[in-house]
Amino acid sequence: MYKCSSCSYSSSKWFGKCPGCGEWNTLQEEIIQEYRKDEKPSLFKLPDIDIKEEARLKSSISEFDSVLGGGIVLGSLVLIGGDPGIGKSTLLLQVSGSVSKECKVLYVSGEESCSQIKIRADRLSISSENLYISSYSNITHIIEQIDEIKDIRLIIIDSIQAIYHPLLESAPGTVSQIKMCTSFLIEIAKQRNIPIFIVGHVTKEGSIAGPKILEHMVDTVLYFEGERNHIFRILRAYKNRFGSTNEIGVFTMEENGLSEVRNPSQAFLAEKPKGQHGSVVSCTIEGSRPILIEIQALTTPTIYGMARRDTLGVNYNRVLLLLAVLEKKMGYNLGTYDLFVNIAGGIGSSEPACDLGICSAIVSSFKEKPIDEKVALMGEVGLSGEIRGISNIEKRVEEASKLGFSKIFLPLSNANKIKEENLEIIGISNIHETLSLLFP
Ligand code: TYD
Ligand code: MG
Repeated sequence: MYKCSSCSYSSSKWFGKCPGCGEWNTLQEEIIQEYRKDEKPSLFKLPDIDIKEEARLKSSISEFDSVLGGGIVLGSLVLIGGDPGIGKSTLLLQVSGSVSKECKVLYVSGEESCSQIKIRADRLSISSENLYISSYSNITHIIEQIDEIKDIRLIIIDSIQAIYHPLLESAPGTVSQIKMCTSFLIEIAKQRNIPIFIVGHVTKEGSIAGPKILEHMVDTVLYFEGERNHIFRILRAYKNRFGSTNEIGVFTMEENGLSEVRNPSQAFLAEKPKGQHGSVVSCTIEGSRPILIEIQALTTPTIYGMARRDTLGVNYNRVLLLLAVLEKKMGYNLGTYDLFVNIAGGIGSSEPACDLGICSAIVSSFKEKPIDEKVALMGEVGLSGEIRGISNIEKRVEEASKLGFSKIFLPLSNANKIKEENLEIIGISNIHETLSLLFP
């Protein structure tokens, strides 16, 4: 049948324009199946339900396992999205390589040929006997292969847009193919208790291509993010039926694949210049993990026309707002200066807790005065120039102290929570006070 995705009109023939609602290109092919009667519903009283610990498979890549909530749950379906070229295939091949040291893994690549995968595996020094590579894109063939190999413990489908079911006439990657193939994969995963990872492409707008329904169908949705030209990559859970969505995994993309970053703060601060103005350290929370970041600002007199403002890794409008506060409350005349703000290392932050860092970096560059190496700043700046309290203050301070920052500026309302002894904690209530302490 062909069914309209906006008004549910159905017909046995395809139309470009839906006769029901008049929308164009909304008719999608669908397979009509008989309702299954064999499933028994179950009804329990809440206290009578036994909680089963899910059996998990460890990939021994700890950043990866922790994002999933402590390993790969058997029988789960995990969707992993991300920009092209960010490293999804590399990550999953490395996971396959690691898991296949213990048990059989099937890696289905609908996008690259087997020899391309082999070249990549060589580069990643993967040479496991238990790793099967297939380049079939017909899902019925893939199922046959699963039966043939026997005892497969993990399946990777790279990518869902490249595989198809022969019963549907539409091309791979269309909504109906993606829906159909995903429901087949769910059945394989649940019936045989094999975890399946599927790669999904990301559209220009940044969501996983294909229907939103794909995200609803799977158990876990992960995104692999990062700036392509930077080495850092972050794996983040957006949905997880078997764990929290608070964990992130940090990797760097190297010559021979992805390597784990156990101490992200140290990595992000590794190249911070010493004694330079326009550079400060702040702390952002990624999931449940505090990460120290270097905020950089550069102000230069505008030579021609309107002053330019540009940002990388921080919200552009937020920077404009902070700039307005600095102009109005501190009287800095930044209108005739070009301004650039950047978070070094390619990790972004949209947290208001970075406001204080952004303001201090801008003023440091404007006055051409560096900020003390021992200083870390965190706090939200309000429109009246007041410094507002932020969440997870203990975690942030602990992280800063671990990396040797001993003089910490934080909102006055948060300052009394901190009990650390060998730290100089400076509780502040407005931007004016902060800047006069930083630049006496
Ligand atoms: P890939 O995993 O193919 O990305 P995706 O599947 O998300 O499209 O990653 C491709 C990029 O990663 C490519 O630009 C080269 C880079 N890369 C490395 O830098 N080192 C490596 O060891 C590998 C395998 C890839
Ligand atoms: Mg790929």
